[in-house]
Amino acid sequence: MQIRLAAPGDAEAIRAIYNVEVLESTNTFDMVPRTSAEQKEWMAEHGGVHPAIVAVEAAEGGPPGHAGANGEIVLGFGSLSVFRERSGYAATAENSVYVDQAHRGKGVGRALLAELLVLASAHGFHSLIARVAGHNETSIALHEAAGFELVGVEREIGRKHRQWLDVVELQRLL
Ligand SMILES: CC(C)(COP(=O)(O)OP(=O)(O)OC[C@H]1O[C@@H](n2cnc3c(N)ncnc32)[C@H](O)[C@@H]1OP(=O)(O)O)[C@@H](O)C(=O)NCCC(=O)NCCS
Repeated sequence: MQIRLAAPGDAEAIRAIYNVEVLESTNTFDMVPRTSAEQKEWMAEHGGVHPAIVAVEAAEGGPPGHAGANGEIVLGFGSLSVFRERSGYAATAENSVYVDQAHRGKGVGRALLAELLVLASAHGFHSLIARVAGHNETSIALHEAAGFELVGVEREIGRKHRQWLDVVELQRLL
């Protein structure tokens, strides 16, 4: 497995991995699948200090997956995003990590989050925030294993698939 910055040719693989969660889970509060055009916009927003990264492996062998920019399989992606537009929050970024269902439980998410921490430090951020659906014990465990600590819980702040959803906020100072 290799982790690298996402390239325009990874857009459709990222979109496919993300849209499964949009449609089938409450791990993201988006409800409408991203279009190709929206994914392109997302790619354009995720450069510079707020990059997107992908975990890839050679196409031969292993479970099938989504082809990335160089013909490899994209196992998952991660990103740093603007946490709040107001300039006083500029030293904080929000992170997210998504791994293809076929490639979970093999350390891909851990490796992506570790790389996001390296990039966030290198880019001069002071703090990272993760906002995770309250039932998403896997993601909470992933973040706690990477040194994130609980900030608090926003109770029933979201609604999707006919359920009220908590959001757990976690933070790691860099
Ligand atoms: C959350 C997610 C990114 C984890 O990625 P992954 O590649 O499956 O996780 P890893 O194999 O790297 O595991 C890393 C850590 O996560 C935790 N973890 C992973 N799978 C878990 C599970 N089934 N139950 C509980 N904890 C789990 C563990 O702490 C694990 O560390 P360990 O192996 O040392 O015990 C992945 O499940 C995913 O993409 N889920 C759907 C999208 C999502 O929820 N993204 C997060 C939005 S906030």
